[in-house]
Amino acid sequence: MQIRKIESNGLLYFILMNDNHDELTVVNYGARLVSFKANVNGRPREMVVSGQTKDDFDHGSKYFGATVGRVAGRITGGAFTLDGEDYQLRQNEGDNTLHSGGDAFEWKTFDHAETKSKNSVAVTFSYHSPDGENEFPGNVDFKVTYTLFKDSKFTIHYEATTDAPTLFNPTNHGYFNLNGTGFDISRHKLQISADKFAVLDEDNMPTGELADVTGRPFDLRQGRKLKEVFASSDPQAIMKQGFDHPFLFGAGDHVVKLTSPDQLVQLKISTDRDAVVIFTANFGEIPMFEEGNVDFHGAVAIETQNLPDAINNEGFGDTILRPETPFDSTTTYEFKIEQ
Ligand code: GAL
Repeated sequence: MQIRKIESNGLLYFILMNDNHDELTVVNYGARLVSFKANVNGRPREMVVSGQTKDDFDHGSKYFGATVGRVAGRITGGAFTLDGEDYQLRQNEGDNTLHSGGDAFEWKTFDHAETKSKNSVAVTFSYHSPDGENEFPGNVDFKVTYTLFKDSKFTIHYEATTDAPTLFNPTNHGYFNLNGTGFDISRHKLQISADKFAVLDEDNMPTGELADVTGRPFDLRQGRKLKEVFASSDPQAIMKQGFDHPFLFGAGDHVVKLTSPDQLVQLKISTDRDAVVIFTANFGEIPMFEEGNVDFHGAVAIETQNLPDAINNEGFGDTILRPETPFDSTTTYEFKIEQ
């Protein structure tokens, strides 16, 4: 197990390696997931779709691999009331706020610390978000730890404390494509243990309805090829040209599985969060990187979190962080590879 560090253009990249030749690359800028490579048939296969440089992250970004916070997803009107106080956030998508209003965690330079043990290597990124940052109340001390284990497995562990009640619902915005070829994700199979999804309006806002997935392309309990979703006549899938939807996990496991078309790679994501937002890269504008770009439907972002806009929707759960109950959450990514 080892960690290699590379400094480039003021950014610090960490390459975590195990004896299995898996390589997990993360960067201190936005505490981003940049790459995960594992050997498939003796050759390293890239599983993560991301830009590589600061310029990629700043301009073509679309939140590639970023730690999104303090609050992922959209907030109606950028407004909420907490303990009787009204707050107004920056509205960066029409009248609404997306991913905390821009210039949030994804563009901050985090502090870093490394940990090594016999069975794992880890990098912890930390960031102090001052009271009033992005108009949120409370001084928040935040840590996110990427740990690589022996067998094509890593975890993302989030920890936060606050000195005043605030909203907190971070996620990782990693995009995956298990082809290793750059082809789109339509032949990937996606499985989610969710029996409800949040219905969206034309502005991408949850309407407040949590709909039953049964009989719809949103029923992924047994898994389904994404091309069925892209070709479906379901008005919600047509409106978004795929998925850009929050799924609410059922009472059992909180698991998402993504299987490559050649069936050689299966990514299993398990989480203690209530929900996952699936975004099938239905880009209006194709993000351009310094080297290459990402096609429409070229990847799928799998964002574990609690339901977005929970503060404004009855029955959507809790995204309030209070001084007496620190935030502690883990999402696990396991790659099963047929050799
Ligand atoms: C997703 C969001 C999408 C899109 C994307 C970034 O989380 O739901 O609508 O904005 O981020 O391109």
